[in-house]
Amino acid sequence: MDRFIIDGGTPLRGDVRISGSKNAALPILIATLLTDESCVIENVPTRLRDIRLTFRVLEAIGKRVDVSGSRVVVHANKPLKTRAPYDLVKQMRASVLVAGPLLSRFGWVRVPIPGGCAIGLRPIDIHIQGFQDLGARRVLDQGDLILDSPLRPGRVRFKSPSVGATENLMMAAAALEGTTTIVNAAREPEIEDLAGFLTDMGAKVTGAGGSTIVVRGARRLKGVSHRVIPDRIETGTFMLVAAATGGRVRLLGVEPAQVHALSVKMRAAGAVVREGQGQIVVSMKGRPVPVAMATAPYPGFPTDLQAPWMAWMSLAQGRSRIKETVFENRFMHAAELGRMGARIAVSGDTGVVQGVPALSGAPIMASDLRAGAALLVAALAAHGRTSVARVYHIDRGYERVEIKLRALGARIKRVKT
Ligand code: EPZ
Repeated sequence: MDRFIIDGGTPLRGDVRISGSKNAALPILIATLLTDESCVIENVPTRLRDIRLTFRVLEAIGKRVDVSGSRVVVHANKPLKTRAPYDLVKQMRASVLVAGPLLSRFGWVRVPIPGGCAIGLRPIDIHIQGFQDLGARRVLDQGDLILDSPLRPGRVRFKSPSVGATENLMMAAAALEGTTTIVNAAREPEIEDLAGFLTDMGAKVTGAGGSTIVVRGARRLKGVSHRVIPDRIETGTFMLVAAATGGRVRLLGVEPAQVHALSVKMRAAGAVVREGQGQIVVSMKGRPVPVAMATAPYPGFPTDLQAPWMAWMSLAQGRSRIKETVFENRFMHAAELGRMGARIAVSGDTGVVQGVPALSGAPIMASDLRAGAALLVAALAAHGRTSVARVYHIDRGYERVEIKLRALGARIKRVKT
């Protein structure tokens, strides 16, 4: 298991290129199950563990995946299976997205139900209800969900806007001849990217980015070429690292509008955030002003940036509040930050952070991907040496993070233990 050894306190300076979005690439790769033709997908963060697991899921179902740099070609290989293997699903919850395309094409699918994870219970009831609204029958067997009965186009209404359920139902609807309407859909940019991919394949998807999505599906979908959008969470993490270390960093290959909620809060806290065409420059001097924040579905403040934001606020000149409204248990990083001298009290869905003048290095441990990102922000800003364990969590979502950080002047190295 790898660790990062970080000697903090160096202001980061320079340029960093942001990778393609993990959470957009995942459903787009899975949507290739909707066609027997080849698909070319560019700007895929292929070094990430979750993306590599997605390749294995596709291969287990019957596709062939060729990777060259950030370009991925998914080919038809053999007849597709209509079940996903448990050993892969348990490693990556997003594997459940294979249900939509496979059920829609073949009228039957068997997928293991993913368990909870460090940040919450994460049920899939909204996905299942959506499939039932389109006529699926649900059976449980040995921890697996079996969906049978051919789907028919229709109207789906989510009780709350789940990102994964929206993607799953959009993919299902794309292969159904006729019109499906998804009401109370999630509005994240990753959903718009998937909508573009499905439309190029031959379905017609309108309304993505809003809360009602209309999909006019087609029985046969074709292979296409597509470029994945930039990763807005990696973008936000580097913005916070730049500010927390009192540096000046230019982020390249980004979409500023997609991190608007973060930019607004960072400016309120005293950072200078300048947006340009495909780039953002962040600079900061001194400690931030405390600013309250509550996470919310897009276009609100992303839950995936709550932990790195907390790391920055732990250095604020006063007390701030952080409310987590999306996941029920996403404050595991608070205790680890506490080991570095942060003063954070968590009660229910709210963290109260009493800023301190400085954090100090300590041995700490990542509990999940974005908690890991928070520890990087804190360690890079702290005085002294920090050792971050369980780096494999960070490797799920940040491509070559130590190399990108070193190029900005950070003193970080990966050690094998
Ligand atoms: C996506 O997860 C992202 N993952 C998450 O990123 C992100 O945190 C989340 O959206 C919210 O933005 C991917 O895109 C692969 P949801 P997803 O369904 O689709 C509840 C990261 O760090 N819910 O919108 O699983 C759920 O428990 C990851 O990159 C139900 O109750 O999120 C949660 O509280 C972590 N029933 C809330 O809704 C359901 O059937 C939002 O979940 C589905 C969800």
